[in-house]
Amino acid sequence: MRATVDRPGLDNQGRTPLIKIRRVRKGDLSKVRDVLEQAFGDFFERQMGTRPRQVFNGAQYVHHRWLMEPWGCFVAEEGDGKIVGAALAVMWGTLGLVGPVAVLTNYQNQDIGQQLLTACKPMDRREIVQATRPAKPGLGVRRYSSLEEAKKKAAMQRVRRITNALYRGMDVGKEVEIVDGLALGDTLLLEKGRDVIGFAIVHMPGVSEAPHGSVYIKFLAIEPHHRKPEHLHALLGAVEEMAHAAQLQRVVAPVYTYYWAAYQSLLERGYHPDFTMVRMKRGKQDDDERPDDLVLDDWR
Ligand SMILES: CC(C)(COP(=O)(O)OP(=O)(O)OC[C@H]1O[C@@H](n2cnc3c(N)ncnc32)[C@H](O)[C@@H]1OP(=O)(O)O)[C@@H](O)C(=O)NCCC(=O)NCCS
Repeated sequence: MRATVDRPGLDNQGRTPLIKIRRVRKGDLSKVRDVLEQAFGDFFERQMGTRPRQVFNGAQYVHHRWLMEPWGCFVAEEGDGKIVGAALAVMWGTLGLVGPVAVLTNYQNQDIGQQLLTACKPMDRREIVQATRPAKPGLGVRRYSSLEEAKKKAAMQRVRRITNALYRGMDVGKEVEIVDGLALGDTLLLEKGRDVIGFAIVHMPGVSEAPHGSVYIKFLAIEPHHRKPEHLHALLGAVEEMAHAAQLQRVVAPVYTYYWAAYQSLLERGYHPDFTMVRMKRGKQDDDERPDDLVLDDWR
């Protein structure tokens, strides 16, 4: 039986073909240019009744943009390797621009444009934040899992001292041990010189409390004498590095808005509210919590 294709964009059984969105490679550049010129040529022809001889009047968009921002250039490729759509995006520091976006006329209205835009959207916030907030010298981050047993004990004592200083008697040692013992993630220790001045218990997705595709900060605290937003930023930066290394796009951080300084730091860093919950406490408010405590904790 002879295969019939009633129109490009549909396979011989009338189904939408599989379209893959991928980054532009060097060999695609002239095809990407053709796709842009064809799609815009058709568009101008529909709008104005005549097709311009040169769609962009000789302007070139593809080659140098790809050299400048290769991770922002995407194509939509049909199963047989034909390029049917393209999108270019560029970061100007903290500002992201998307366009041009084009899909060949016969392939339009099949969600390909949307898929291209979605590919352009995830911005690497880590790079942006690193550019605007360089790490402070003298601070270092070490993973609890990388320490020898004797050093783990000393680190644990330091962790206990930090939580005890924040809220007398509070001890999250069990949380650190279970994450280490079951390899649920890791505990990051923020060091200033040889002193541990903060820590973050971090869950990675799989069998931990981290939601699918996200890194989750179970508990984070900075020692009260070192209550400086730059210390919180250093730990958050290390958590984001951990997420990046695991190819995870999302970091989930619980924040009690009474801890105003911590909440502000998260907003400055580009975090945004996902959902809100109410924290109910019984008894009189005492001095154990201060709005400038740099703590991220989740009481669920
Ligand atoms: C715009 C374009 C990329 C959309 O591609 P696509 O694969 O058809 O997009 P999708 O199927 O994902 O989405 C189609 C939607 O885009 C809308 N759309 C398409 N062209 C549009 C235009 N010029 N203005 C407003 N909306 C438009 C459609 O109405 C449809 O909306 P709906 O989902 O609400 O019905 C494609 O039409 C194209 O290449 N156009 C010519 C070049 C161009 O104008 N590019 C955009 C400026 S850079």
